[in-house]
Amino acid sequence: MTEQLVAVVSGGTKGIGEAVVARLLKDGYAVVTGSRSASASDSDGLTVVPVDLATAEGAQALADAALRRHGHVDALVNNVGAFTPRSSFLDVTDVQWQEGFDVNVLSAVRLTRALLPSMLQQGAGAIVTVSSVNARLPLPFVVDYSAMKAAVGNLTKALSEEFAPRGIRVNAVSPGPVKTPSWTADDGIAAGMAAQSEATRQQVLDEHVPANMAISLGRMGEPEEVASLVAFLLGGEASWITGADLVIDGGMIKTL
Ligand SMILES: NC(=O)c1ccc[n+]([C@@H]2O[C@H](COP(=O)([O-])OP(=O)(O)OC[C@H]3O[C@@H](n4cnc5c(N)ncnc54)[C@H](OP(=O)(O)O)[C@@H]3O)[C@@H](O)[C@H]2O)c1
Repeated sequence: MTEQLVAVVSGGTKGIGEAVVARLLKDGYAVVTGSRSASASDSDGLTVVPVDLATAEGAQALADAALRRHGHVDALVNNVGAFTPRSSFLDVTDVQWQEGFDVNVLSAVRLTRALLPSMLQQGAGAIVTVSSVNARLPLPFVVDYSAMKAAVGNLTKALSEEFAPRGIRVNAVSPGPVKTPSWTADDGIAAGMAAQSEATRQQVLDEHVPANMAISLGRMGEPEEVASLVAFLLGGEASWITGADLVIDGGMIKTL
């Protein structure tokens, strides 16, 4: 009998991370995830750990929980990330840059560093980091977040180069706007945009975002669509793909 594949997904309790967890469970993985508001649980192949992944202790705790529970890890999805809308580059303080760096970059650095040795020991493994179109499309209102996402894309390439000879594939996905709580929640981005216009939150999500961001397919993405791409990159069908950063944006980015 072959051993069950084990995946660690950071921030898998909402949005894209939650969809990735559901998809990987469906694909037969045992999954370990963690987030700040999660309650500890362990059933039906899913282990959930309450952790703040913007801290070194949180990342270590999630990695330790996975290795303690399963003894090895085959797949890592660095999904955690967050941004705060900015009015100007001039207003973003050092503290805010550092907070963004902790949650968007160091979370991936620390989890990867903690879990790569397990993959190297078995000579196989796959890592996918969730970047953003903003890595290629830096915008003033997400000035720090854009730089952070460019950093994780760059890191993806370096890791893919170093660890390919030892059986590890490392890729990234760069989504455009996806209907997750960061957009749809009462205090989410769409509510903020609606408050500054005549539109309702639903109109912002269904009409304004696709139109203003020139999304060719005319709608925002669904978390499950990103999860499908992540699952593909983790799996054997993607066996000759490493160092890639795949855009999934409904045609928002117009350049090659
Ligand atoms: N949604 C989009 O339009 C979009 C587009 C491009 C890229 N992305 C990227 O996709 C990823 C997921 O975004 P999303 O929209 O799905 O986000 P989301 O709806 O805000 O969900 C984020 C998840 O991460 C957890 N999380 C956030 N900060 C954390 C922390 N410090 N420690 C532990 N867990 C934390 C959250 O749980 P708790 O709050 O309980 O901690 C939640 O489970 C991010 O990297 C984001 O940058 C999103």
